[in-house]
Amino acid sequence: MLFSLLINFSNKGAYKEPIMIKGRIVGTGSTIPKRILTNKELENIVDTSDEWIMRRTGIKERRISSDGQREETSDLAASASLKALEMGGIPAETLDMIVVGTVTPDRQFPSAACFVQKALKASKAVAFDVSAGCSGFLYALSVAGNAISTGSCKNALVIGAERLSTITNWKDRSTCVLLGDGAGAVVLTPTTDHDGILSTHLGSDGSYWKLLYASSEETYEIPEILDIAEGKPFYIKMEGNRLFKKAVSCLADIAVSALEHHDLSGSDIKLMVPHQANLRIIQAVAEKLSIPMDKVYTNIHKYGNTSSASIPIALDEANREGLLKAGDYVLLVTFGAGLTWGASVVKWYS
Ligand code: ACO
Repeated sequence: MLFSLLINFSNKGAYKEPIMIKGRIVGTGSTIPKRILTNKELENIVDTSDEWIMRRTGIKERRISSDGQREETSDLAASASLKALEMGGIPAETLDMIVVGTVTPDRQFPSAACFVQKALKASKAVAFDVSAGCSGFLYALSVAGNAISTGSCKNALVIGAERLSTITNWKDRSTCVLLGDGAGAVVLTPTTDHDGILSTHLGSDGSYWKLLYASSEETYEIPEILDIAEGKPFYIKMEGNRLFKKAVSCLADIAVSALEHHDLSGSDIKLMVPHQANLRIIQAVAEKLSIPMDKVYTNIHKYGNTSSASIPIALDEANREGLLKAGDYVLLVTFGAGLTWGASVVKWYS
């Protein structure tokens, strides 16, 4: 067993700086369902307009998973994972841990992570889900990163995967226009260099749970134009306006804490990859951090809010577009149901 602080003694006990072990992201991957649901199509489902949705959220279209295409949460997650493992050159059988951030696992149990483990034949890995609303990916990243730091794990797969279409109330225009499906994954390996996940800072406040929760108070139906046989027996209920204000303040505060922890400021950040809930939230947070929008990655116009999946999907797209270089500081920030929130500072490795 390794330890997080390996204290080196050599030359008759002379003390050397402790060596920190951190998780390093060596591969990213994402998988998006093929079915595009446009704002125009939503105009036929609820009383809304493309103009309203674009102006208030920045969303143009989103992806909706399909039963016929076998796009369960774990299918999307396993597909994204294969791409991340391939990029990192990490064989699935060497994984020690698989953590999936999700609020829409295929089933109540077993976990989506166990289905991913089966699909990847990652027989050595412990596998479990983390439920933290839209913050699930950063919570999962924190768990896996800490496991690497303590030496209890070497290679880890961290996934954010959601099928929000199965918990969407398609009669509620204030939520159904926001949500989409997808999955993203990162592969972590240990590093003792100066790169890797420098730290992840998390927050929760259950006293605000009623701003966003899963409700079973009404029944709902999936629109016929979507290939989803059956939804879950509950759906998303949200007080969007109050949530918006909490999101901006929590995101900005946790991001500042994370940056200050490393004596960094917004100007040191090469790329901010925020949770994609609303373009106006992202712009407000970037302004508070003095990070110009050309250093903020957004893909909300294509995918809407994919909850736990949004950060790893965006990170993968940014990575594959060549926007991240070795030594770049990357800021990941998230906010979601719980309430939960978090920020992670990553020094990129490539
Ligand atoms: N189309 C047309 N009109 C609409 C729609 C729609 N899709 N949705 C709401 N409206 C109407 C409302 O009924 C209201 O009408 P009224 O003035 O006649 O009563 C008006 O638009 C304004 O409604 P608000 O809710 O005040 O609109 P707001 O500007 O706040 O935008 C939104 C709503 C987009 C939901 C915003 O509040 C938001 O993004 N909130 C945060 C969402 C979030 O961060 N979620 C966190 C994570 S989600 C998760 O965890 C899965």
